[in-house]
Amino acid sequence: MNDRKLISLASEAMANSYSPYSRFKVGAALECQDGTVFTGCNIENAAFAAAMCAETSALSAAVSAGKRSFKRIAIVSEGNSYCFPCGTCRQALAEFAPDLEVLSVRSDGRYVSYSLSALLPMSFGKEHLGNT
Ligand code: THU
Repeated sequence: MNDRKLISLASEAMANSYSPYSRFKVGAALECQDGTVFTGCNIENAAFAAAMCAETSALSAAVSAGKRSFKRIAIVSEGNSYCFPCGTCRQALAEFAPDLEVLSVRSDGRYVSYSLSALLPMSFGKEHLGNT
């Protein structure tokens, strides 16, 4: 799948964003190694701490469907700046794909691409637990 198609799937998911508190809509499209794509949007809550980011939402859908190998994620927001995954989402994604390609997209369609390992250097992973 080309970048534009993945980005357009993230944009479609963004339309479903439930973000009455921040009014900041985010959508994500996570491409699995087998080519399937799972999307997610941010889902906020009156108890603010219970909010879920778009990336985690997409990851939850994918893992719940049995996927564990991921290639790329596109993240779209309505903001004028590039929307990068928050620290918690970086950690959640790194559990499965430390070298995931991250496409961060601006509202005008411009995007940049980074490896998750560059966005989350020296991260804590399963290898540090010593019991897996
Ligand atoms: N948000 C995401 O969904 N993904 C990000 O990468 C950054 C932030 C959401 C969380 C919250 O609903 C809103 O954006 C404002 O922080």
